[in-house]
Amino acid sequence: MPTRNGNHHMRRILAATVAVVAMVPMLAACGSSNDKPFITVYNAQHKELLDEMVPGFTKETGIDVKLRNGDDFELANQLVQEGSASPADVFLTENSPAMSLVDRKGLFASVDKSTLAQVPAQYSPSTGNWAGFAARSTVLAYNTAAVKDAELPASILDLANPEWKGKVAFSPTGADFQAIVSAVLETSGEAATKTWLAGLKTNGTVYDGNSTVMKAVNSGEVEVGVIYHYYWYGDQAESGANSDNIKIHFFGNKDPGAFVSVSGAGALKSSDKLSDAQKFLKYLNGTTGQQALADGKAFEYPINPAVAVKSPVKPFGELDPPIIDVANLNGPKVISMMQEAGFL
Ligand SMILES: [Fe+2]
Repeated sequence: MPTRNGNHHMRRILAATVAVVAMVPMLAACGSSNDKPFITVYNAQHKELLDEMVPGFTKETGIDVKLRNGDDFELANQLVQEGSASPADVFLTENSPAMSLVDRKGLFASVDKSTLAQVPAQYSPSTGNWAGFAARSTVLAYNTAAVKDAELPASILDLANPEWKGKVAFSPTGADFQAIVSAVLETSGEAATKTWLAGLKTNGTVYDGNSTVMKAVNSGEVEVGVIYHYYWYGDQAESGANSDNIKIHFFGNKDPGAFVSVSGAGALKSSDKLSDAQKFLKYLNGTTGQQALADGKAFEYPINPAVAVKSPVKPFGELDPPIIDVANLNGPKVISMMQEAGFL
């Protein structure tokens, strides 16, 4: 039957065409990055920082790094939901409470001992399931026209006192500030933290993000603001447009306000590229990765003792932070306390 044969023939031609069309993108993909090994990193650190650190890793190992960017708890919660089906090989954050959340769900593989050994023990959790690779110091940014050095608070807890009413800025929705609250909880206990949060609620003005807090202090809209040190140094190195009217106060004296927040990285147990993931962790807090961090524009602290932050950043050894096991910082508890205090 010619008609049936004709139809059959047409279908075969069509099928062959579809197959060829389908093969084109596959061939293109084979010729590009897919023949290179890669790992997928859920990244909650500043993307700019990773863009400075990653090229040295790819150069050293030939392994590409695909970043999926998000916020600390957003990505931590995503990992918990995805469980063993997650495409992530590595998770890294700005602040450690989100790392602990994932660790407590049992999703991390143990970090290679040689990686943990590259940084002082206090910058990785006692579980050994993730490793620190950068640190950030809490500071009080103050408008120098509004606040004299002699008027600075001795403790971050003082900001809840009546004399600071209407004068304090902070960003409670961000994981940065939430990490500071977790340090207050760990060092001062639940009752004191509750009182402090209530005082901040009365005294404070809420802004969205550390950069916005800094701008508000710089413009004189508010007298002081709680931020991390690198926002000020970064702006000073650029133009000073948002920081020239500001000085930063390091609390020191093991005050909760001298809290040093640790950025950590861990390898997901479910990864089928665990050995590449472990190589990445080793690079991040090894000398090459840490040097890339120090040479870049982030102004966060390297924590490998072989690499120092560049001048004029206050040396890491002079910070005198409170001593805390980062594994104890309790993100979910802090979030519920901040919800109760009316911040979230
Ligand atoms: Fe930040």
